[in-house]
Amino acid sequence: MTRPTVFIARQVFGDIVDRLRPHFDVRTHDGDAPLTQPALIAALQGCAGVFITGSEKIDAALLDACPQLKAVCTMAVGYNNIDVPACSAHGVVVTNAPGVLTETTADFGFALMMATARRIAEGERFLREGRWKHWGVDMFAGGDVHGATLGILGMGRIGQAIAKRGHGGFDMKVAYHNRSHLPAESEVSLGATWMTLPELLRAADHLVIVTPYTPETHHLVGAAQLALMKPTATLTNIARGGVVDDAALAEALAAGTIAAAGLDVFEGEPVVNPALLALRNVVLTPHIASASVPTRRAMANLAVDNLLAALGVGPDAGKPPTALNPEVLRS
Ligand code: DGY
Repeated sequence: MTRPTVFIARQVFGDIVDRLRPHFDVRTHDGDAPLTQPALIAALQGCAGVFITGSEKIDAALLDACPQLKAVCTMAVGYNNIDVPACSAHGVVVTNAPGVLTETTADFGFALMMATARRIAEGERFLREGRWKHWGVDMFAGGDVHGATLGILGMGRIGQAIAKRGHGGFDMKVAYHNRSHLPAESEVSLGATWMTLPELLRAADHLVIVTPYTPETHHLVGAAQLALMKPTATLTNIARGGVVDDAALAEALAAGTIAAAGLDVFEGEPVVNPALLALRNVVLTPHIASASVPTRRAMANLAVDNLLAALGVGPDAGKPPTALNPEVLRS
């Protein structure tokens, strides 16, 4: 009997990919950059499964062109790059990687928020450029984090982990906006109060955005929303580019509508809006919120667990642990 073929669409930890070799013929793309769409489609010919990241686009056209595909397993938690309804219609199971990156991503979100509030990147640039001549009374004076109001937009796992840090570690008042309210006991343990989006924007000293990117959240924060924020407020986006209107944000930062921003994700990344690059009051990082070695390994291992199970191997055969459309496997 011929073994199924799987494709690993990105260079990933070799020992983790090796877990697939006893069961499948494994093809790999050993590059650190995503394939073009035609190259991805060509590479997927004859493949039953694919391991992807948050960058490869899986849409109806690709599915039409790859009729043998049965499983799409991403090592990311976000899956806005995958058309899940189209996958279901093509009988393709989709899995993502929730849970394993929660604490690491929350650490980073908090660090980026702090770096933004306390002007760490700006101060470092100033020092490296040899411009530091003396200690100054208000030199790089920013806003306080402890005791401030932490606004969280999107209160899923990562939002709650950020709330825990703010409430427990920094004595912050926590306000949040989410489609659904947390259970009352979670609100009490996180010290968190639900608000409408306008209320949240007005209240937050430091707004952290962690909501998934969907058609409904496209430009959820644009010029009108930024205008509601305090001039001393900061905005941190670790969700996805597109949730924030980057051009409107750049204008707001230049005009002093808000004080500063920390951005790990961008509309059209890896291209960054040049207006953001020109500003001093923005901290920019290249989509690395989940990038600790143990966490990136855990994400890759979970994608492999899912790929094995989706293609009928191992203790979870037929029941991938984190399927987004498990009904495909039941039908
Ligand atoms: C995720 O897991 O969604 C991270 O943003 C990496 O893509």
